Amino acid sequence: MGAASAAFLAELGHHVSLVERDPDRRSVFEAGQVPFREPLLAEHWRALLERGVLRMASAVGDVLPCDQVWIAVGTPSLPDGRADLSQVESVVSDLEGTPGGICVMRSTVPPGTGTSLSTRLAKHGWGYVAHPEFLREGLALDDMERPSRLVIGSSDHELSESVKAVYGEQVQVPVVLTTVASAELAKLASNAFLAARVSFINEMALLSDAVGADVRVVAQVMGMDERIGPRFLEAGIGYGGSCFPKDTRALGSLGEDLGVPLTILRSVIEVNSRMQRVLIRRVRQALGGSFSGASIAVWGLTFKPGTDDVRESPSLTVVNSLLAEHANVIVHDPAAGVLPWGAQVPRAKEPEESLIGAQAVLVLTAWPAYQRVVPAEVVPSMQMPRIVADGRGALRADDWRHAGATVIGIGTGQPVGERVREATPFRAEALGA
Ligand code: UGA
Repeated sequence: MGAASAAFLAELGHHVSLVERDPDRRSVFEAGQVPFREPLLAEHWRALLERGVLRMASAVGDVLPCDQVWIAVGTPSLPDGRADLSQVESVVSDLEGTPGGICVMRSTVPPGTGTSLSTRLAKHGWGYVAHPEFLREGLALDDMERPSRLVIGSSDHELSESVKAVYGEQVQVPVVLTTVASAELAKLASNAFLAARVSFINEMALLSDAVGADVRVVAQVMGMDERIGPRFLEAGIGYGGSCFPKDTRALGSLGEDLGVPLTILRSVIEVNSRMQRVLIRRVRQALGGSFSGASIAVWGLTFKPGTDDVRESPSLTVVNSLLAEHANVIVHDPAAGVLPWGAQVPRAKEPEESLIGAQAVLVLTAWPAYQRVVPAEVVPSMQMPRIVADGRGALRADDWRHAGATVIGIGTGQPVGERVREATPFRAEALGA
């Protein structure tokens, strides 16, 4: 999230240039707007440009020399799960042969990357500091302003101090000065651990359904223990986005490459994809065993509320499965950008509109707008069997039931009449104990 870092540093009084190579995105930034949904950032952007503390540039070479170059490019997954470092590589090669400074790595890179980059850059007079970011989409500028911690990794204490000094006195948070490898691993481990919490509670949700418990109560009780804490225990159809899926894969691949199999992480990833199949299976069963020709509404496409991002959203997996099973799908989302299906999948302007004639609605992102829909007004417009499948625990199920819908959830403790057949036998002999 380079733009959030740039805006924050400019707010602090530094002279900042944001290098954006994509001409379309750059022209949006230059016009004083932000080409993605990031409300607080969008609010500040124009003023920073007008004050002249923030400038746009199209190439790294145009902004050199400068004291520090913060790299915040994408590191998406390659087909084998490893991180694609080509954008990082491209910026680093731009720095080679130019007047030196400090290269500050904000992008999430596999541990080991910084050690080789710093050796390479040192030959050209550049210092190297790993300074991973912990920003959430939709809250990126808030997270810059109020970070939980600053992690600064370098083999050279002076370089670390220079990066710390950038924050001045304004940011009063714990600062961890460490090595490059520890900083790199701390970032990936943090994301992997949060993903693990989500997969853990999702498995408890499946077990809740089998024993008649409510996973929200289970999570509430667990979260009251200070050692556990309440966050990242919301069960549903799994995590998505541009970070958790690719970072868990990258860490898992690294472990394999280094001969350290990350067993827990592998299960985290497996459980995550199982959750989408579980919801599909439950709805299919409620429809009598087939989606073929069924009219299905889908509410929520972004990977979480508060963003317009659909990258690796569980919703896309669900919609693709519905299409593969020949359902007629109509979608609604208040913010999602361009969708991959074209005319094959119509997009309703309002959630209510998408329910007309639908046999089932699948709620896949917990946008607040869906809680505001009045069940008694819309359920009569649906076709039998009027299924409401809440994949995020986002709705008041009783209101929908009273209005005549059949409500399906994940972890609500309602009998679902199924056994999860995908599970590996959890017995001592199966585990080699
Ligand atoms: C995540 C981390 O939270 C940030 O700290 C990190 O900096 C960022 O990745 C990154 O590496 O850049 P983000 O991708 O914006 O941030 O999304 P989160 O808010 O963490 O949510 C991730 C996914 O987990 C979403 O799909 C969300 O719906 C899901 N989730 C989250 C659950 O299913 N249950 C929960 O209880 C919490």
